[in-house]
Amino acid sequence: MSGTFISFEGIDGAGKSTHIEALSAAFVAQGRVVTRTREPGGTPLAERLRTMVLNDAMDPMTEALLVFAARRDHIVQVIRPALARDELVLCDRFTDATFAYQGGGRGFDWALLSTLEQWVQGGDTLLQPALTIWFDLPPAVAAARLTSARVPDRFEAQPQAFFEQVAAGYGRRFAADAQRFARIDANQTPEQVWLDVLAAVRQKGLLP
Ligand code: TMP
Repeated sequence: MSGTFISFEGIDGAGKSTHIEALSAAFVAQGRVVTRTREPGGTPLAERLRTMVLNDAMDPMTEALLVFAARRDHIVQVIRPALARDELVLCDRFTDATFAYQGGGRGFDWALLSTLEQWVQGGDTLLQPALTIWFDLPPAVAAARLTSARVPDRFEAQPQAFFEQVAAGYGRRFAADAQRFARIDANQTPEQVWLDVLAAVRQKGLLP
């Protein structure tokens, strides 16, 4: 596999979207073919699973299994083929979100999530992003940003305490594999956040 896989993470309200779009444009300007995608989602089946996960009541294990089922379809149908074509894959959330939301937020068993990660992303090599850009924002700041947002889904509707747990989950993933992550202080102006994103991508040698 020869392409490059980059994921974007952070609690709801951390402000990933505009930067993913800008980064995509920066890569296209360099002549790269970019596959922009998201999780849960990215295929017709995974998008249907996304609608269920974001809207239907379910227990934590069902939720964890559904996000991994969506991921499996996404990897098989979209991510691995795009990497095999030497493309750049920009994915709005990946498995760190499962550890953060289902593991941290819902308190679902961390070791079991690791087993599912091995099953779903395994093969000759374990599929992981080359770089994960983590938009790190205090949950209180994110909560203030989200109050004006659209009708909240099952996650956005959670109290701030839930997002404290999610943030702790991201912190745990970061601590276990720090060299994969670029931790960006998202509590800055969008312009400064963008400069930090760009610097992180350049430091990895992915943009000149
Ligand atoms: P989004 O709004 O950034 O597209 O993310 C959808 C929601 O799904 C967000 O609240 C985080 C949540 N989520 C999980 O709970 N587990 C996962 O594995 C993923 C990828 C997302």
